Amino acid sequence: MITKTTPEVGGMGHPIKRKEDARFLQGKGNYVDDVHLPGMVYGHMVRSPYAHARLKSINTEKAKQLPGVLAIITGEDLAKANLAWMPTLFFDKQMVLATGKVLFQAQEVAFVVAEDQYTAADAAELVEVEYEELPVLVDPYKATDPDAPILREDREEKSNHIFHWEVGDRAATEKDFQNAAVKATVHAISQRCHPAPLETCGCVADYNKATEKLTIYLTSQAPHAHRTLFSIVGGIPEQNIRVISPDIGGGFGNKVPIYPGYVCAVVASLTLGVPVKWIETRSENLQSTGFARDYHMTAEIAADQNGKVKALRVKTLADHGAFNAAAQPTKFPAGLFSVCTGSYDFANSFCEVDGVYTNKAPGGIAYRCSFRITEAAYLIERAIDVLAAQLKMDPAEFRRKNFIQPDQFPYKTPLGWTYDSGNYEGAMNKALEMVGYKELRKEQEEKRKKGELMGIGISSFTEAVGAGPAHTFDIAGIKMFDSAEIRVHPTGKAICRMGTKSQGQGHETTYAQIVAQELGIPASDVIIEEGDTDTAPYGLGTYASRSTPTSGAATAMAARKIRDKAKKIAAHLLECSEEDLEWETGKFFVKGAPSKSKTIQEIAFAAYTNFPEGLEAGLEAVNYYDPPNLTFPFGTYICVTDIDKGTGEIKVRRFVAVDDCGNVINPMIVEGQIHGGLTEGLAIAFMQMIGYDENGNVQGGTFMDYLIPTAVETPHWETGSTCTPSPHHPFGAKGVGESPNVGSPAAFVNSVVDALSHLGVKHIDMPITPWKVWNILKEKGVVS
Ligand code: CDP
Repeated sequence: MITKTTPEVGGMGHPIKRKEDARFLQGKGNYVDDVHLPGMVYGHMVRSPYAHARLKSINTEKAKQLPGVLAIITGEDLAKANLAWMPTLFFDKQMVLATGKVLFQAQEVAFVVAEDQYTAADAAELVEVEYEELPVLVDPYKATDPDAPILREDREEKSNHIFHWEVGDRAATEKDFQNAAVKATVHAISQRCHPAPLETCGCVADYNKATEKLTIYLTSQAPHAHRTLFSIVGGIPEQNIRVISPDIGGGFGNKVPIYPGYVCAVVASLTLGVPVKWIETRSENLQSTGFARDYHMTAEIAADQNGKVKALRVKTLADHGAFNAAAQPTKFPAGLFSVCTGSYDFANSFCEVDGVYTNKAPGGIAYRCSFRITEAAYLIERAIDVLAAQLKMDPAEFRRKNFIQPDQFPYKTPLGWTYDSGNYEGAMNKALEMVGYKELRKEQEEKRKKGELMGIGISSFTEAVGAGPAHTFDIAGIKMFDSAEIRVHPTGKAICRMGTKSQGQGHETTYAQIVAQELGIPASDVIIEEGDTDTAPYGLGTYASRSTPTSGAATAMAARKIRDKAKKIAAHLLECSEEDLEWETGKFFVKGAPSKSKTIQEIAFAAYTNFPEGLEAGLEAVNYYDPPNLTFPFGTYICVTDIDKGTGEIKVRRFVAVDDCGNVINPMIVEGQIHGGLTEGLAIAFMQMIGYDENGNVQGGTFMDYLIPTAVETPHWETGSTCTPSPHHPFGAKGVGESPNVGSPAAFVNSVVDALSHLGVKHIDMPITPWKVWNILKEKGVVS
């Protein structure tokens, strides 16, 4: 139970308006591109027009002669400093600037530095690169064909196969399939898409030759980890590097990897001794930085006659593009994909994933999800619907029959995860009630009689967020804890610094609410700082909805340390023993004599002016929190669609989202997170794909082709919640930021498939565009 604080204190559960919005709404945010340093110069990338080609020569003479050009760096220049390649976050390496050959369209070939960004861009056009085209591999299914071109000549293994990973009990699963009365199969593609944050990636690298200190202003979701990697790879002593992530305009996983542009800007600044800014364009962002998904998945479910599931078998092909630059810190090549048993009680399961190289941009980043969970949730929620349809069972009733039950938690899945807590039926019941499910099914029946198309799609997803724990997660060996440091000033106000980094999630508000909850210092009196490696305690950053489960927990733990010390000071001030004291939000009082009390503000003053002998002065604490487990938020989403038989247009009439992220810090911020994530899920389901033609030309490399939903396309989201606290989190919270992106694609797709199921449609791959639907309707002879 969370004690409710007053609105003035503003602890947990209060819908406080976001502190940071005052500066954002007034245009006073400070993003990397707002950084202007004296003497700053600009970098621009020369990129390959080809997807696969041998680099015959690079001639920079003409470009160098353009007035204002200061330097041009090529792969060969970097090779001299052993920097032509850099390690990726997942045991591969990636070219910084191409040497030998290029492996995807828009790959980085040379870096031009000039006095202004326009000269840099003009000079980049003057760099003459001679290419010899090579056969292009686009289809991941052909990657291991004997006649497929071998893409990575740098590797010892002359194959496009990256990894095979399997988990679960193959034999037991096989047996269940042999004995099963019913089997269902779905082949579903989680298509290549891109986080496309509002702010693209960029940096300002500022090397000071006098102090030998390198300051990097960086669009980084993980500033500390990036500093360590810059130090290890670049050989610069870590204390001489300061990474500052100022305001970040959305990340969604896109700002976890280190990109060639960052490295080139650093090299240019080290060489020239002036600050170098590099900001990528929108197309550069879409075409060359970390893509997401590209999982080609098959799920089979074995069940008995009554629709009780027995076993799940999953086989997946993962297209990683030219380099395996998956930004994921698990030990497993496919990250948390093995959470694919979802919310259901399978006795056995077996999952295998093969990764391959193709001539596409590298990545495999976790776009608003925990390392392949969106793919997993989409697959299982699609497969459950396919099986329910095959059994002619209502998809809600089918789910009810197969959910893991509340008394089974902590629940060990057959693929090895231990879910902390859940009440899946509770969330689904609430969503069904909110949407008016029974009436909608009746309406659908009526509409079908009239030939109208209406669908209802359910997704009852389970998420896994909050990486660590340290035993399973690390980045380059650095364990995935996170941190908080709280300092209470003499007047009772506080500053709190964390190892995470907000990209728009509202951390400046919610962390302050945790301090308010734990110490009774009003949230408005607490300043939150993140993103500066010279001041914040070491942490692994913000992605995978890990801030609340890790740094949020660290904040509570640090605050509790402060409370313990405050108790000693209160006992000293009240001339009693610590045992005689009781805590009530914001003050200690003597048991049985509530008027004899000291507020946290009085105690803070005493911590600097009148503290007991033998106790250190000051009131501050730091905590590094290694969570014992992930947290497992969940929910049920229901989407109602109407389909136009003339145009194939899909209209989302209703969308109900019931989320359970345990105890909530700020319900308004959580609702905002849900709205944003659902809008991204809608885009993935209906609008977005980074496609490639057979020559490896990227399609979807501009916002003309890669569609972003506006207010016009975005439906009204109806949100609700249930609350099942995490038993291992200090204040029972689970992460939430990613749930809507993880849970919603299946709800959208299930709804459209449901609308067309009576026509024999079993599955449609995303993005489900009106054109796709219209063609299906045409094929079925029902276009009006
Ligand atoms: O790591 P990230 O901030 O992206 O994800 P998160 O931990 O799920 O938090 C997203 C936002 O929702 C933060 O401002 C959290 O403090 C807030 N939140 C909350 O108010 N209550 C929760 N139980 C979980 C998150």
